[in-house]
Amino acid sequence: MEATIELDAKKHYPVLLKEVISIISPQYGGTFIDCTFGQGGYTKKLLEFENTKVIALDRDIESKTKAEKFLIEYQDRFIFKNLKFSQLNNLKLKNENIKAIVFDLGYSYSQIKDPKKGLSFESEGNLNMRMGLNSFSADDVINKLEENELEKIFKFFGEEKESKKIVRYIINERLKKKIDTQTLVELIERSKRKKNFKIHSATKVFQALRIFVNKEISELINGLINATKVLQKDGILLVVTFHSLEDKIVKYFFKSLAENKSISRYVPKTEQPDILFKLIQKKPIIPSKEEIRENPPSRSAKLRYVLKKKDFYEFETDIFEKFKNLLNIESFGNKL
Ligand SMILES: C[S@@+](CC[C@H](N)C(=O)[O-])C[C@H]1O[C@@H](n2cnc3c(N)ncnc32)[C@H](O)[C@@H]1O
Repeated sequence: MEATIELDAKKHYPVLLKEVISIISPQYGGTFIDCTFGQGGYTKKLLEFENTKVIALDRDIESKTKAEKFLIEYQDRFIFKNLKFSQLNNLKLKNENIKAIVFDLGYSYSQIKDPKKGLSFESEGNLNMRMGLNSFSADDVINKLEENELEKIFKFFGEEKESKKIVRYIINERLKKKIDTQTLVELIERSKRKKNFKIHSATKVFQALRIFVNKEISELINGLINATKVLQKDGILLVVTFHSLEDKIVKYFFKSLAENKSISRYVPKTEQPDILFKLIQKKPIIPSKEEIRENPPSRSAKLRYVLKKKDFYEFETDIFEKFKNLLNIESFGNKL
């Protein structure tokens, strides 16, 4: 999940940067949208090319401080909005010629290490996990949701095999006192029969909570749909993912709009819906051995991209139906 790492305040590693730049070709100028500004790694590189303009978004208000430096240096070529990428359509970009839109999902190292955000199982105090512009926290989820709801969140968002047992411990414990980060870690450790020496026992539950609290499933689906709308013909939509759920969604969205999979060959060509995307390569691009050596958290990154072949603003997609199970689970948060 840690997409970008900042080993010290000066050194910063935007994941797959060389590959992203070579795909979207900023050397020819154009307007780009960086949906996940973060530490500004992608945006910085884009702005180094003349004749480029960057519109950047990030839900974390702390990114705004980083963006301020760029606002001074590139006043007329850079815009920053503290916005969730699912709200991209609020920016009224219908008639802008957007050449490429990039998403570098996940969290930056500085966010993971920020004790206020409580994203890490090493954090102390109340559970949180809010990235910014959220409606509830992990504290609400763990201390208020029903047993069967918590079980589904851990199972489907974290692929946690021991969900049932962990949730039982949580339910018993919260009758006595409110559960904070350290108590949650202890309960998870207690419920695991076998120790896994490769990953921390709490990794999967914490991943599930982060996905749930930040509504990452609907964020991504709506982000992809709105990005596709505003992209110009021949524009590129590019996404770097960090866990299998994200990758599944991106892969399905691209593939389902890049082929007429369910069209019978007897339907006349003129009545077949137009294909929206050109899938440039089926397999995702992954970081090189050198990049992983230099920045180990990049090892789970996968880059996928498509070219928009039509000038459509509106289009049809069955992606909500395809992922309705996950969206249903996400909706447990509506009552918090
Ligand atoms: C991996 S970092 C991006 C790093 C960036 N590419 C760089 O090179 O510095 C991901 C960023 O996306 C932001 N983010 C995650 N989900 C978001 C969403 N739904 N809307 C807007 N920003 C989001 C996070 O706050 C984080 O700053």
